[in-house]
Amino acid sequence: MTVGGELHIYADRAALALAAARRWETIARDAIAARGRCRVALAGGSTPRALYALLASADWRARIDWRATHLWFGDERCVPPDHPDSNYRMARESLLDAIDIAPAQVHRIEAERAPEAAAQAYSDVLQTQFAPPAGTAPRFDLLLLGLGPDGHIASLFPESPLLDEQRRWVGACEVARLDAWRISLTFPVLNAARHVLLLVAGEDKADIVEAVLGTDADNRTRPAYPVERLRPQGQLEWLLDEAAAARLGLRSGVAR
Ligand code: 6PG
Repeated sequence: MTVGGELHIYADRAALALAAARRWETIARDAIAARGRCRVALAGGSTPRALYALLASADWRARIDWRATHLWFGDERCVPPDHPDSNYRMARESLLDAIDIAPAQVHRIEAERAPEAAAQAYSDVLQTQFAPPAGTAPRFDLLLLGLGPDGHIASLFPESPLLDEQRRWVGACEVARLDAWRISLTFPVLNAARHVLLLVAGEDKADIVEAVLGTDADNRTRPAYPVERLRPQGQLEWLLDEAAAARLGLRSGVAR
């Protein structure tokens, strides 16, 4: 069950963040030229923080046309927006407070609400903003994702009932291992994206990277990990640092 996509390996987190920023800049330029705007779904967790901080820096913040950008969230923890675990708070502190983007163009998941109500409300905003053709899912120009050590992406965890969701665009789920509720985009939306950047860094990801991209994966016919259900209509690119790619026996560069 080999997950497709291009594999890019970078010496360290800083090089990975720079590469991701350059890809964002190119994808955004093309999206804005073609459709007048760029719609980005941000990843949560810790890995993207270096990317967001780079984009917020004086050298970079003017390189993205934030007036034509709409920022969304791939998932959210069910906490208030100022909670230390909030993905919105992480994005606000590392990026949003430093860039000139209209608040109406930042679409936060209202995860302080009851989980199912928050999921429905986010889906309603997706419908209003994207108005996709009937039977199709909202297509992000750029979807950023991280990868958990258990192979989860967004908040689509192993054994989650959301893994098989093919109709709803946003779901709420309790994650027993975290004793927490999460809101997440579902695979119909993730797989509709034009460009997906999977940002994976750190030696704690080496095992899951090997499990998903190593030779053993070729012998699997069914997805063993949530990330193996990722089949975007558009381009999928893995951006790894050498620590995360350590078990693949590959060095920096385009490995595939
Ligand atoms: C979240 C993310 C989640 C994250 C992975 C990797 O809300 O935590 O959406 O999917 O991307 O757990 O997290 P790190 O980047 O912190 O390793």
